[in-house]
Amino acid sequence: MSDIPLIPQSKLPGLGTTIFTRMSELARQHEAINLSQGFPDFDGPAYLKERLAWHVAHGHNQYAPMSGAAPLRQAIGDKTAGLYGYRPDSDTDITVTAGATEALFAAITALVRPGDEVICFDPSYDSYAPAVALAGGVVQRIALKPPAFGFDAAELSARISDRTRLIILNTPHNPTATVWSGDDFAALWQVIRSREIYVLSDEVYEHICFAPGGHCSVLAHPGLRQRSVVVSSFGKTFHMTGWKVGYCIAPAAISAEVRKVHQYLTFAVNTPAQLALADMLDAEPEHYLNLPEFYRAKRDYFSQALAGSRLRLLPCTGTYFLLADYSAISTADDVSFCHWLTTEAGVAAIPLSVFCAGDFPHHLVRLCFAKQNETLAAAASKLCAL
Ligand SMILES: Cc1ncc(COP(=O)(O)O)c(C=O)c1O
Repeated sequence: MSDIPLIPQSKLPGLGTTIFTRMSELARQHEAINLSQGFPDFDGPAYLKERLAWHVAHGHNQYAPMSGAAPLRQAIGDKTAGLYGYRPDSDTDITVTAGATEALFAAITALVRPGDEVICFDPSYDSYAPAVALAGGVVQRIALKPPAFGFDAAELSARISDRTRLIILNTPHNPTATVWSGDDFAALWQVIRSREIYVLSDEVYEHICFAPGGHCSVLAHPGLRQRSVVVSSFGKTFHMTGWKVGYCIAPAAISAEVRKVHQYLTFAVNTPAQLALADMLDAEPEHYLNLPEFYRAKRDYFSQALAGSRLRLLPCTGTYFLLADYSAISTADDVSFCHWLTTEAGVAAIPLSVFCAGDFPHHLVRLCFAKQNETLAAAASKLCAL
């Protein structure tokens, strides 16, 4: 018996390595310009790096408190109050996590019971559905329709059942670069207010929003925030995706359940990084306040550089992604097109269909513009030649 090699029955059959890892690897092999995976090719703020080194050198190297270092939770509370007019309790409502990914997983695990239905809007970020499946839940997908990819409250209402437990939304939205408005949240609230349904709001791009009134957070809605977990990521905000520090905000009773998962998933997050982030938030708030302008300039630079191409760009009101319709260049499906684009044309992109279940007949690819202008110019010149 002990000689037989054991192969576990997969709890996530059909799932392989993510497209992001695969495209980045393909880009590396073919020395293509990598606009696929969402990470900057420039570094984060000097002060943040200095503070990390300082805290390491000054002995702040043991476990942080399970819920997060107190100065960081305090700084997150201050930032939230300043931006959204609502101050979460930094002791009970804020939990620092190993990136937004951990916060999403902990929230889904805490809230979803076997047989519960969870509504996701497709295209949706790839970590949601596996977490729901592991919790024994069932994903109900609502397809957002291009080119606006707008939220339709009537469609949501029609899809809600007695088993609906959680709605997962993402604004600014990866990959469609659209945002939710205050009216969308008001409509969502009308649909769910008399039901026991929770909201998981993935707001990792909260500081990369180009909408006229700025980012609209669930935290600014007094009703919704009482039953929501709102997730953010310092990786996006400070150009440090490799640090993997994020957080979630939820009312005390919900946070208590999320923390029960978090304490056995990671227990606590990297101490010196948390303390450095607290220093950074306090000392240089202009970094995140100026981020929309920083990325707006990159979006416009890249869009203008692509003006002579046969790609048709869709509007971008948030995130550091642009969607491009390539149907004037090729009739191939988007996965084949991205493979060809990487191996033959020297630019790596992500096919939109990987964010959706079932057939997705559109010819759209996602391009990441969190890159130095030289990188964007070099990519644009290759894309303009197609
Ligand atoms: C919509 C969305 N949610 C969550 C994450 C994960 O963030 P983190 O790297 O902080 O885990 C990402 C990263 O790309 C994202 O785009």
